[in-house]
Formats: sequence, C-alpha cells, structure tokens
Amino acid sequence: MGLKEEAAHNRKGIEKMKIAIVGSGYVGLVTGVCLAHIGHDIVCIDNDRSKVKKLKEGHVPIYEPGLEALLKKYIKNKKLKFSYSIKDGAKEATAIFIAVGTPSKKNGDADLTYVENVAREIALSMNDYKLVIEKSTVPAATGKRIERTIRLNIPKKYKKGNKLLLDFDVASNPEFLREGCAIDDFMNPDRVVIGVQSKKAEKILREIYKPLKAKMIVTDTNSAELIKHASNSFLAVKISFANALSQICDHVGADVLKVAEGMGFDKRIGRSFLNAGIGYGGSCFPKDVEAFIRLSEKSGYNFELLKEVRNINEDQKAAFVRLIEDKLWIVKNKVIGVLGLAFKPDTDDMRNAPSIDIIKALQSEGAKIKAYDPQGVQNSKSIFKGVTYSKDPYALAKGCDALLLITEWEEFKKLNFKKIKSAMRQPLIFDGRNLYHDDNLEKLGFEYYGIGRGDIS
Ligand code: UDX
Repeated sequence: MGLKEEAAHNRKGIEKMKIAIVGSGYVGLVTGVCLAHIGHDIVCIDNDRSKVKKLKEGHVPIYEPGLEALLKKYIKNKKLKFSYSIKDGAKEATAIFIAVGTPSKKNGDADLTYVENVAREIALSMNDYKLVIEKSTVPAATGKRIERTIRLNIPKKYKKGNKLLLDFDVASNPEFLREGCAIDDFMNPDRVVIGVQSKKAEKILREIYKPLKAKMIVTDTNSAELIKHASNSFLAVKISFANALSQICDHVGADVLKVAEGMGFDKRIGRSFLNAGIGYGGSCFPKDVEAFIRLSEKSGYNFELLKEVRNINEDQKAAFVRLIEDKLWIVKNKVIGVLGLAFKPDTDDMRNAPSIDIIKALQSEGAKIKAYDPQGVQNSKSIFKGVTYSKDPYALAKGCDALLLITEWEEFKKLNFKKIKSAMRQPLIFDGRNLYHDDNLEKLGFEYYGIGRGDIS
C-alpha cells in the first residue's frame, strides 16, 4: 500500500480529533502535517508571524522530502490551519502538543524558557478540558513543572480557592523522527511512547495514534521523558563506539566495515548506527547527549560514559583534519573541495554539521575551500567566510588538490570519477563516510583514504 492508501485505510473507524500544535519548527510541522494525514483536524501555531504567513501560502521553510506536498494538500482540504495565537488556535482543541525549541544553554542545560511561556499561555486560554502533550525533548520531570505552571496560571474564574473548576492533563509523547525521512518515520514508527498520569490522557493519545496501528509503550511521564534521552544517547554511544573502533582499525590494519558487519549480525548488537565516520551532528544528538550529562549530574550521577562519547565525537573530526594535513603535507594555499555540507543527506540542516569544524580547521591552516551541497549551501553561507561554492561535483573538482566526502548524498554515490580525476590538480580523496569503499578508486589512480580501513600508513 502507498502512503495515500495506507492513510485512507487506517483512518477508517477513528474518531477525528481537534489538535493544536504549538511551535512550527521541524518537529511541530512534521507532527502537524502527519496528524492531518491520518485524519485529524490540526492547527499549527507559531509566534513568528512571517513564518505563519509563508506556511499559510504552502511554503515550508525547511527541506524535508515530501513535507511541502502534504502540507499543501491538507491546507487545501482545510484539515491543516495555521495561527500565531495560542488563545485563538487552541480554543477548540482537545489535545495541545508543545513542540517549541529547547536549545542548549552555555552550560549544556536545556533552555526551557519557550516551554514555560507556552504552558502559561495555554493556561490563560483554557476554556475546557485540555490534554497538554510535551513533544519537545525535555529533561525528566518537566511534565510536572508544566502541570504546576498551568495550575498557577489558570484564570481566577476557573478556581474556587485551591480547587480547579477545569480539568486538564499533562502527558509526554517524545518524537523519534529522523530528518530526511521524518514522514516515513512518523507513519511507520518502531513504537509510540506515551507518558501519562491518567486513563483519560491515555485514551486520548491512543485515539490520536490509532490509525498508525503502532506498538504503544505506556509509562508515567518521567519515564517517557527519559526514554527519549536514553534512546538518543544510546545511539550516540553506538556511533562513538564505531568511531573509536575505527581509530584502532587504522592502527592494527583492520577494516572497521568488516568489524561492524561481523558485530552487527549478532541480533543483540545490530548493524545500524555502527557507521564510523566524521562524527554525529545535527540538532539532536550533540544537544541531547549534553543535556543528559547535565541532567545526570543534577541527579547526583556522573555519567562518564556519555562524556567520553562526546569526546570521541569531537576527536573524530580532529583526527580527520590531522589525516588530511598529514597527507597533503603543506596545507597552505592548497585547494580543497568539500562534497557535502549538511549534517546528513536529505536535509539542508547545518546545525552542528561536522563540515563546520573541519572546514574552519583547514581554513585556519591556510587552505582554500570550495564546496558543493545539493541543499545545504544557503544555510551555510552565514557560517563560513571565504568559501567558494560550485554548481556541481565536477565544477567543484576543478583545480582541487584534494576532495573531501563529508555528507553521503545519493548523487555523490554515482560520480564519474574519470571526469573528477581529470578536473583535479592532484587526485587525493578523503572519504569521511566510507561511501566509496567498494569503488576501487586506487585503480583509477586516486590516493584514497577512508575511515578506519586499516590502510593509513
Ligand atoms: C536523530 C534520531 O535518530 C531521531 O530518533 C531523533 O528524533 C532526532 O535525532 P537525526 O538527527 O535526524 O535523528 O539523524 P540521524 O539519522 O539519527 O543521524 C544523526 C547523526 O549521526 C548524523 O550526523 C549522522 O551522520 C550520524 N551517524 C548516524 C553516524 O555518524 N553513524 C551512524 O552509524 C549513524
């Protein structure tokens, strides 16, 4: 069944619900569009008026495959609306998702200012029972704080002494969407986690997700919040383990791809997230690992394992730069072509992209950087100074002393390497994602360096 038929089939027999989503960033938008897709009436709320205006016209401010087409469809069907006012937007909703940003403070703590503001505004606009659902990644026990904020700010007319005349619940429903395949992840989740304090909240959340026919994990709110932190941190552990392994492989002459394959067939381990490379980036892993370290510290536990995961991740980028510097010999004035800037393929997201540290380190040694990325160029322009952008990989290769593969975009998998080689000044390739491990680039006359392939002498 395609997405369309699947959604229609799954919608049969469900009670459609009026749902508000506060925050139209990545998580909020994908959640809103997908909930409309499975049959609910959605209003997405954001206080950025120009963003709301663009969304109403059907323009999505981020690159996520399939999102804009679905958004346009459900705006047309009137199942998806936009508003900049929580008061107006949330009035008719039974369920209100909080999907605002929780950026890192300087000390690594999650900054929950937006969450608190939204909780207060929801309280002020309450007119009936509401289920308030945290979707943003928040530290454990945030649900309790949201509940308290709402209780304290509910208008006087709904209070009799300390007694509330309005009922509400706070629940946690963490998202596990990956950028680049977020719609498919939403429609086909491994599990839906709901953290609830009442049967009523559980019933509503079950009803919302019923069309997905997904495995539901029902917990208390604190545990649900922790599932999100623990899942992302554990995936980061796997990546850093593979990266540490890659360093050893280079020294003992082993191949990290073979080692990962051999490990991955053990069902208890699994092959996914064991790809060694230039480290994890993005809006989630670096921030969530940091926040989990801080959360643990506050609860009296020193999470040394996660601190090392973070260190390995940082060092992986530095090791890549050291390798390039070693093999290039003199870096100053060398022209280096960078294939891929975004933190991973199928996104234009540059947040914590490994390309940032790598390019800046090479520039500080005097390298001249050229770059190409299918989607990330626009967002990278405010990050880099002195980078020249090329229109395609072949224009990029022209005059280069080395090429770096940073992001494994599909279009980079099938390059014409003869053409690339003849365009370059000298044929050096540093493959930060082991994308070309089977391509025998040495046979074409390249000096080829992967990650942890045991071939670095
Ligand atoms: C992640 C989680 O997967 C998702 O569940 C959560 O909701 C948000 O954070 P995302 O950041 O979109 O999703 O990307 P993901 O595909 O998980 O990759 C994160 C980073 O890890 C990328 O930089 C990627 O290149 C890197 N990575 C991933 C590796 O270096 N090796 C791997 O084996 C897997």
